[in-house]
Amino acid sequence: MDQDEVEDFGISVEDSLDSNLLKTRPAKCSNPSSPADIKEKPAEDMQNFDDPSSYEDTSIPIQYQMDLDIIGVGAAGQVYDVDEHTVLKTCRIYEPPSNNATPRALWDYASETVFHFGLLKDERAVLRLLAEHPHPNIIEVIDLDQPEGLYIRKYRQISEMTPATQFDRILWYQDILRALLHLHTLGITHSDIRQDNILFDSNGHAILSGFGASCSFGYPNPSLPLLTNGTSENVSDATDRFAMASMTYELETELRPGISIDDAQGLILPVVQTGNKDLDSLIEKSWRGRFSSTLAMLRDAERISDGKDNRRPTAHLALKTELRERISSWRNDRVNQHGSDVYFSLCRPSVRSMYWQSGMAGN
Ligand SMILES: Nc1ncnc2c1ncn2[C@@H]1O[C@H](COP(=O)(O)OP(=O)(O)OP(=O)(O)O)[C@@H](O)[C@H]1O
Ligand SMILES: [Mg+2]
Repeated sequence: MDQDEVEDFGISVEDSLDSNLLKTRPAKCSNPSSPADIKEKPAEDMQNFDDPSSYEDTSIPIQYQMDLDIIGVGAAGQVYDVDEHTVLKTCRIYEPPSNNATPRALWDYASETVFHFGLLKDERAVLRLLAEHPHPNIIEVIDLDQPEGLYIRKYRQISEMTPATQFDRILWYQDILRALLHLHTLGITHSDIRQDNILFDSNGHAILSGFGASCSFGYPNPSLPLLTNGTSENVSDATDRFAMASMTYELETELRPGISIDDAQGLILPVVQTGNKDLDSLIEKSWRGRFSSTLAMLRDAERISDGKDNRRPTAHLALKTELRERISSWRNDRVNQHGSDVYFSLCRPSVRSMYWQSGMAGN
């Protein structure tokens, strides 16, 4: 595939190699209706467009890659089975609107598409950094150089890890805190710590995944006004620790913490009763911002299990080099079977032309 094709797809490999991306890109999720690529005002029939709360993409049908088994759909991407060792994460791809679609439908399609391509591009940049600085508790990237998406080692999902004891889960929390410590040392936050983004290797080690919201310290907190990352306006190691506490609470109690703020801007937290006082205190301290660092939180979590861990170390059956070769022949097979545009469900030029067609560009 040549560079033009890659760029036509809306993902410039050169762009995603740009290490400045982590420093220069705008905050995610702050206003999904205003992707950087589309600056002009929408047409008159698009009232309330600038109000993110009025913006819904749920009515746009998602388009799946032909003949691939989907194993996960999140807010940012679609994850497909490649083989028993690898998955492909694409950005969220929408079905192009019909010829008689309304300007609103064309606009929704174009702006959502550009926005989601941007998310994948950002995630690719974070994963490139992590490929240079790997960690056993962070997903292993296999190939980031293909335009259709990100090839990642395949792991188990949390639904496959039941029944788990509280002791098992305490080891998971330590695993994730180790992953976070590594990330924070690189100056990056995860910014979306929750169960869906935790995967597991074959020996039961928790693996941090879902880097679509990940960004440098100091960026606007993407979860606000929801308090998933706490009340802080900007993300930092502390906001990840806050979300870590909420996820721990949820896994222990099977309840959402339902955190809110009172009139004096104080946090209203639930009573924590996990059946383990040290775990209760870990959660509370983290919510209250009483850990000075992620390392301090990890040390507290390690004390709960008293250093016991009988799991075997992570050992992958297939090496990354072997998986890269498999991906290459898998891609070739698909092209032979479906034609050379198998990966190009849509491309930036077609999105641009729809945007012009919608009549909004000149207003
Ligand atoms: N490497 C993997 N192995 C197995 N399942 C995976 C893998 N990566 C993702 N999944 C599944 O796919 C779902 C969606 O993936 P992911 O979390 O990466 O996408 P997202 O939620 O759209 O984006 P993000 O979390 O980055 O904002 C996950 O919740 C998980 O169930
Ligand atoms: Mg996710």
